[in-house]
Amino acid sequence: MANRKKIIITLDGPASTGKSSIAKRLSNTLGYIHIDSGSMYRAATLFALRLDPERILRPNVFVKYLSEINIDFKKINEEQKIFLNNEDVSHEIRETYVTNEVSNVAKIPELRLLLVNKQKEFGKNKGIIMDGRDIGTIVFPNAECKFFLSAKVEVRAKRRYLEQSKQGINQTYKMVLDNLKMRDKLDTKRVNSPLKKAVDAIEIDVGNMTLDDAYEKLLTYIKNQIV
Ligand code: DC
Repeated sequence: MANRKKIIITLDGPASTGKSSIAKRLSNTLGYIHIDSGSMYRAATLFALRLDPERILRPNVFVKYLSEINIDFKKINEEQKIFLNNEDVSHEIRETYVTNEVSNVAKIPELRLLLVNKQKEFGKNKGIIMDGRDIGTIVFPNAECKFFLSAKVEVRAKRRYLEQSKQGINQTYKMVLDNLKMRDKLDTKRVNSPLKKAVDAIEIDVGNMTLDDAYEKLLTYIKNQIV
């Protein structure tokens, strides 16, 4: 597929719909760059928490430090890693204490502006698949191929819970469900670029699909776009 035209593919939807796993697989098949934009908000959240371990940092204080946040991606042994000020934070940004704060930090308009500009920059040569919440609406409104993945919150919570149990993360199903409900609410209700399906996005309910099925379905749509 390397000789086909390069396009921009966006993949939005609520947490735990499998966006990043599917996007990563698609990027390998297509030879595209993959950017998980949520990981950028997570890295910025880690930065904020390190500034203020007591988590009382106010947005008007945090924004004064924005110029000190440098986020980058590098491939190491075929794995994409995210760097915050030259430190590999790929693992730490997935910790529960970061997950619990990220939607609050992600709603700060000045931070969004900074990260959206960086995301646009990543896509300037096309050949990119980016997943997140506002990629098809705000970051790449003219993308050639847009998807919106959805699934009931209980289904997503069950998946996340089983995934975390395998990784040895000690959280009950109820804790995972409550966290997802809270993040859904914060992500959809925020004033600045809320989670929303772009009018021209293809919505796919992945509730009854395996990741393999969802991957195949998206790939079929994409192939029709890039012939
Ligand atoms: O995809 P994720 O769960 O790792 O994203 C973490 C948080 O970042 C999520 O709660 C909302 C926020 N986010 C956002 O506001 N805009 C994006 N484009 C991606 C993520």
